[in-house]
Amino acid sequence: MIETTLSGDGSRTLYCETVGEHYHSTKDGALSEALYKHVLPAWQYRIAGRSTITVLDICFGLGYNTLALIWYLRQQGYCGNLKIFSPEHDRKLVASLADFPYPDEFIGLNPIILELAKNLHYADSNLTIEIVAADARSWLRDFTTSVDIVFHDPFSPAHNHQLWTREYFAELRRLGANDLLVTTYSTATAVRMGLFENGFHIYENRPEAKVRSATLASLTPLSLPEIDMNLKQQRNPLAASLRDEGEF
Ligand SMILES: C[S@@+](CC[C@H](N)C(=O)[O-])C[C@H]1O[C@@H](n2cnc3c(N)ncnc32)[C@H](O)[C@@H]1O
Repeated sequence: MIETTLSGDGSRTLYCETVGEHYHSTKDGALSEALYKHVLPAWQYRIAGRSTITVLDICFGLGYNTLALIWYLRQQGYCGNLKIFSPEHDRKLVASLADFPYPDEFIGLNPIILELAKNLHYADSNLTIEIVAADARSWLRDFTTSVDIVFHDPFSPAHNHQLWTREYFAELRRLGANDLLVTTYSTATAVRMGLFENGFHIYENRPEAKVRSATLASLTPLSLPEIDMNLKQQRNPLAASLRDEGEF
């Protein structure tokens, strides 16, 4: 039986001993994070009204972002075609999800959860999910599918540095559609700079619910007040993006 942590909204998450971090904010709650920081902005700014959507969910972890997206789209009666690709290097973790005590919202998703835990793959007439048991950064180098939305949800830069650098965001831009939207829980200036330096418009995602602010980065302008990253840099000349080792 996995030992889980009760998070702020009543949904359960895990603590990663080796990393020393929870998989979700225990304050905001696992389900609330997935919904308010990723799924709702994705719906509002990209998915509603489109018939085909491809999402890159970095990294799968307990699968809350992928599952909350499917749950929400079903609630909305969305009939379009959804493809989700999600790297996750911990194959054992994914296998263990067959027994994870997910919130009631996900009860109808049980066949999907069981199939993913067993085969890392699920497909039906309008949904395909592919979990890739690999290092996200290495796998992305050879990934060529055009992506509309990235749920960017690795551990913090202290533990997943290579998934927060300017060079990493350049990779995302390379494989993203012209209007790629990136959602992330991080509000760090260094992270926003890395996105901004790759041509993204940067926005504060201020959920109405009791969930802390997050970041939206879009290659096309959104109907939100844009953060002036040039001004931020003028005010703090030391503000800089994170870089891959050896990059300046
Ligand atoms: C914060 S958790 C993701 C939470 C997840 N999005 C969810 O909704 O449950 C971070 C995940 O990234 C995975 N991970 C860390 N570094 C990775 C890497 N380089 N490649 C692939 N997966 C990685 C960890 O195993 C962990 O499951």
